[in-house]
Amino acid sequence: ANKIKNAKLVLLGDVGTGKSSIVLRFVKGQFVEFQESTIGAAFFSQMLAVNDETVKFEIWDTAGQERYHSLAPMYYRGAAAAIVVYDITNPASFTRAKKWVQELQAQGNANCVMALAGNKADLLESRKVSTEEAKIYAQENGLFFMETSAKTAINVNDMFYEIAKTLLHQ
Ligand code: GTP
Ligand code: MG
Repeated sequence: ANKIKNAKLVLLGDVGTGKSSIVLRFVKGQFVEFQESTIGAAFFSQMLAVNDETVKFEIWDTAGQERYHSLAPMYYRGAAAAIVVYDITNPASFTRAKKWVQELQAQGNANCVMALAGNKADLLESRKVSTEEAKIYAQENGLFFMETSAKTAINVNDMFYEIAKTLLHQ
């Protein structure tokens, strides 16, 4: 029988790193240059088939602006998966991503599948965070790591697919 697994997934990360753009790419296959900054959080749901099983993601796209930080626990509490996003052209966003990982490790669900996404991978000429540095950090902290581009679609579906596979085999 075809099994459907519901999974709450949260996106966290600094303002402007591309959280909403990643979700828009995954859910609608679209990208907009002038994506508006998220207020509070936005909800989406999307099914993803893995062989003969299906994951129904219930996605919370949180707002990166610091004034919304206190709302974040509502969204990551009970989450089966979290994607922490930084922008490869912005070192401060990588520092912020590490803070989110620490917060999830301290306060999040112990079984939470965590992924680190180095987004805007299309902007190679402006890169400020090396792949190697992020990869090592991710390994040390047990995170999936991918460099993504919501603009070109590189690795966006793959990231959700890897998370879905892990959730189904947990
Ligand atoms: P907040 O909601 O304010 O926390 O921001 P966010 O993380 O949701 O970022 P958002 O998706 O709004 O993207 C911010 C800007 O970056 C927008 O102008 C996007 O078009 C742009 N952007 C997002 N992803 C990419 C990407 O992969 N490549 C490029 N070149 N631009 C991107
Ligand atoms: Mg947003």
